Amino acid sequence: MKVFKTQETLRKELEKYTGKTIGFVPTMGALHRGHTSLLLKAKTSCDVVVSSIFVNPTQFNDPKDFQNYPIQIEEDIKKLEEVGCDILYLPDNVSDVYMNETDFQVDLGVLDKVMEGTNRPGHFKGVMRVVKLLFEIVKPTHSFFGLKDYQQYLIVKEMVSQLNLGIQIVGCETVREADGLAMSSRNLLLSFSERQVATTLIKTLEYCREHYTGSGIGDLEKRCLSMMSQYGEPEYFVIRRADNLQEVDADYRGEVRAFVVCRIGKVRLIDNLRIN
Ligand code: PAF
Repeated sequence: MKVFKTQETLRKELEKYTGKTIGFVPTMGALHRGHTSLLLKAKTSCDVVVSSIFVNPTQFNDPKDFQNYPIQIEEDIKKLEEVGCDILYLPDNVSDVYMNETDFQVDLGVLDKVMEGTNRPGHFKGVMRVVKLLFEIVKPTHSFFGLKDYQQYLIVKEMVSQLNLGIQIVGCETVREADGLAMSSRNLLLSFSERQVATTLIKTLEYCREHYTGSGIGDLEKRCLSMMSQYGEPEYFVIRRADNLQEVDADYRGEVRAFVVCRIGKVRLIDNLRIN
């Protein structure tokens, strides 16, 4: 795997692959099997696989979360090599990523006004800023995003469509531990006992799937919230249309998902599940 610390050297290398399909997996490092599943998917569908490791400061609304974000570059490089990643962009300063930034407008409608949009002010603006810049640097044909961050996946897809970036955004299923906990870099921050109760997220989502009938949605959301509050501090538990995150009307027949955020100790965990 070739590692590039600057966008200038990376861009030069990528010129060699004009006309080829480029699969891109942007990450913030602390890689786990969720990330490697994205890389493997990229590997099977594209000629060249590019990844990036960059802990993007503009998407953290909580400075403590940014400071505590786990960093393990050497292990990450090993994992990337094991799955056959061809190229890694590993900038060692923020200005290398942000130096050519230009303003842009995207109308996200409801997409950034619910769930993480309201609970993490500025988060999606930061995600869109960095993802657009990384897309401009790497110029991928395809980019792979985990469905664990479902709202992020929808927002990136919408941004790509409105700005006509011509990149195929591929959503990949959430990878889970044996007990169902969704893989996340933040799981590394859980203590032993917190790790045991962290399964409350998936257990509650599964309970919701078992009891979802298409009506009485508000009551079911409340029941799920109260189940989780026995183990952690839930921020929200909502049931929404999967296509646009709006509330589910009685006549809606499409995919429905339940979305949850819960703090276990100091760690903020997120998950979601298709429930119909
Ligand atoms: O999902 C993430 O890890 C980040 O939000 C991303 C897409 C790498 C942008 O910093």
